[in-house]
Amino acid sequence: MLFCLLMTAGVVSAQKVEWDNGREERIRALIGQMTLQEKVSLLHANAKFYVAGIKRLGIPEWALSDGPHGVRAEIDRDDWGYAGRTDDSATCFPPGTALAATWNPRLAYERGLVLGEEARYRQKDVLLGPGINIIRSPLCGRNFEYLSEDPFLVSRMAVAYIKGLQSKDVAVSVKHWLANNQEAHRDSVDVYMSERALREIYLPGFKASVTEGGAYTVMAAYNRFRGDWCSENEYLDRQILRKEFGFRGVLMTDWGAAHSTVKAALAGLDLEMGTDIKDYKQWYFADPLVRAVEEGKVPVSAVDEKVADVLRVMFRTKVLGEGVREKGKMNTPEHQQAAYVSAAEAAVLLQNNGNLLPLHLDRIRSVAVIGDNATRRHCGGGLSSEIKALYEVTPLEALQRKWGDRVKINYARGYEKQSTFKEGSNSGQSGAGKVDWGLIDEAVKAAKESEVAIVIGGLNHDFDTESSDKQDMGLPYGQQVLIQEVAKANPNTVVVIIAGSPVELAGIVDRAPAILWAWYGGMEAGNAVADLLSGKVNPSGKLPFTLPVSLAQSPAHALGNYPGRDLKVNYEEDILVGYRWFDTKKIQPQFPFGYGLSYTHFSVDHFSTDKSRYGKNDTIRARFVIKNAGSVYGAEVVQLYVSDPVCSVLRPEKELKAFEKVFLNPGEARTVELRVKVADLAFYDESRKAWNTEAGEYILQLGNSSRNILQKVKILVDHE
Ligand code: BGC
Repeated sequence: MLFCLLMTAGVVSAQKVEWDNGREERIRALIGQMTLQEKVSLLHANAKFYVAGIKRLGIPEWALSDGPHGVRAEIDRDDWGYAGRTDDSATCFPPGTALAATWNPRLAYERGLVLGEEARYRQKDVLLGPGINIIRSPLCGRNFEYLSEDPFLVSRMAVAYIKGLQSKDVAVSVKHWLANNQEAHRDSVDVYMSERALREIYLPGFKASVTEGGAYTVMAAYNRFRGDWCSENEYLDRQILRKEFGFRGVLMTDWGAAHSTVKAALAGLDLEMGTDIKDYKQWYFADPLVRAVEEGKVPVSAVDEKVADVLRVMFRTKVLGEGVREKGKMNTPEHQQAAYVSAAEAAVLLQNNGNLLPLHLDRIRSVAVIGDNATRRHCGGGLSSEIKALYEVTPLEALQRKWGDRVKINYARGYEKQSTFKEGSNSGQSGAGKVDWGLIDEAVKAAKESEVAIVIGGLNHDFDTESSDKQDMGLPYGQQVLIQEVAKANPNTVVVIIAGSPVELAGIVDRAPAILWAWYGGMEAGNAVADLLSGKVNPSGKLPFTLPVSLAQSPAHALGNYPGRDLKVNYEEDILVGYRWFDTKKIQPQFPFGYGLSYTHFSVDHFSTDKSRYGKNDTIRARFVIKNAGSVYGAEVVQLYVSDPVCSVLRPEKELKAFEKVFLNPGEARTVELRVKVADLAFYDESRKAWNTEAGEYILQLGNSSRNILQKVKILVDHE
C-alpha cells in the first residue's frame, strides 16, 4: 500500500501578523472606555444597513451596502423601500457567474477597485459580497450571483476581488457562510455533508478569502449546518473560521439570520443584522446580550472580543486611526469601461458551426433580432444584488447604434415574459410556459426577410433570483419552439443566451448553428453582445459550471437529494460536485466545465514539468508553449487538471489545480509556467482528520475544458 504523507490542519496566522502592529493596544484602550451598553451598541444594527457609532469616543456609524456586482441604491433606514434618491445610480457589472466565466482574476481585482471606489464615494464602509457559494444544483436561484462549481476557480476569483476592493478602504463581506447552496427553504433547511466534502469542496473558497484575501468580514448564512444555525455554529464559527483560518474580522449574520443570544455569542458571532422592524433594542445582540452578560451567561471578555473585531475592521479600513481614507469616485468612464471588458470577456461561444460567427457586416444587409432579452434590462433584478444602474444598454439598442447605418435590423419580439410561478414548495419560476404562435409567426417572418437571424433569449431575474429556486432547467416562454422555428426559416440563426445559471439547450443545439452564452452583462451588456457578434471582440469566456443535457444528469438531482426532505438535505454526491461527478461517472454533459470556443485557434505543445519526482513540500513547475495558430487576436484559458489514479479512497477523475488566461496575437507563441504545490494534490483523509498526499503517481492534464485534454505528464510523489 502507498505510504501516506500527512499535513495537519494548522492554525493560520498570516492575518494576525498583518493586523497587529500596535493597533491592538489602541483597540483595547477604546474598549476600556466603553460601558457595556456602548459595547453592545456596536454589535447589532440600528437601521437596515447601519450600525450605531459611539459619538463621545469618535466612533462613527458604520454603513453597509449590497452587493457583489455594484453598490446598491439607498434603502430607507427602517424598511425595505428605496429611499428615492437621485444620486445613487451606479456602475453595474455582470454578476458572479459571468465574472467567473472570464477566468481572469485580474478582472476580479479591477472590479474590486471600481466597487471600492464607488462604495467609498457613497460613504459605505462594508460592501456585502462576494457571494461565493458552490454551484451545486443548476436550480439554485442565486447561482447567477455565485461563481462556480469548482473551489479552485472560486478561490482565485474571490481572492483577487477581495484584494482589489479592500485596497480602497472598504471591507468585503464574504457570503454566505456556509452551504447556502439552494434558496428553497434557505431559512430553515439543515445541511449535512461529509467532512471530506466540506473540506474539499465547500470550504476552500472561504478559506482562501480569509487567509489569502484577508477578508475583513464574513456573513453567516440563513441555513443550518449539521443541526445548528450557521450564525451560532460552534464548529463552523469558532473551530474552523476563527481557530483554523485565523479569522480576526467581523462575523455578521445574514439579514435576520440570528436565532439566539447566548449560543451565538459563545460560538463567535459578532454582529446581528436584520430585517425585523421591531425595536432594534430587542434584537438578540442588543438588550438581551447586555442581560446575558449581567446574568453571567456570556463573559464580558466575549463581548470585548466582538467589539475588538469590529474596531479592528474599522482601523483596517481607516474609519478610525490615521491615514487618508480613499475618497472614491462614481460612474467614471474607467468604471464603465471595466464593466464593458468584464461583459466582453465573460461571453462563452458554445457553438459555431460553419464559422457563422463573427458576422461579416460588410457583406450582410439585413439581420432579424428576435427575443424579449434583446430589449430587457436586467441590472435592477435579482433582489439584494439588484443595482440602479446609471444606464443599461440593451442588445437591440447596441445593434441598432453600431450596425444600423449599414444593416437593416428587423426586430420581432418572438416570446413574451409570462408568470410561470408555482405557489408553495418554495420553488420559483418554471421553464414551461405558453408557446405564443402569434409572436413566433412574426419572428419567422422577420427571420425569412433577413440574411441572419439572432435570437436573444434565455432567462431573466424572475428565475435567477434570491429567495427562490428555479423549478426546472427549461428555457421558458416557449423559446425552444421559437428557436426551432426561426432556425427552420433561416439557416443562419445565432442564439444568444442571457442567463446566469444552467438552462437546457438539448432542443436547440442541433438546430441553431451558433450559440453564444452572454450572461447578464451588466450596464454594458448590449455593447458587449454587439461587439462579440461582429468580431470586434473575440470570445474568450469559459463555462464556470457544467452545462448538463438535463437536470437528471446533475449529481444532486440524479441522487434525489435536492431540495431535501423534512427540511434536511444530505449532500450524498459528496465530493462529486459538477465536473467531478460528470467526469468520474463518465456522463457526457451538453457542454463541459471550462469549455468555450474562440474565433481563432490555439496549439498547446511541449508540456513538461521541471522534475519527474517530487517531495511533499515541493512545488511542481509545469511549462507549456501556447500559440495562436489562427488569424485574429484572442485568448485561451489553459487549465491544469490533476488525477490520482491509484489512491486508498475514491478521487474525482480530475481536479482543477491551476489555470492561466493567455492573450495572443495571430502567430504569437508564448511559454507559460503554472505552479502547483504538491501539498495541493492532497485529499482530506477522514480517518486521520487531516490532509493526505499519498505517495505514488499523479497525472497532470493540460486542457481547454475538463473534457478536452490536450497533453499529459506523469509525475511521482515520493514517500517521505
Ligand atoms: C441576502 C444577503 C444580503 C442581505 C442584505 C439577504 O437577504 O441573503 O446576501 O446581503 O439580504 O440585503
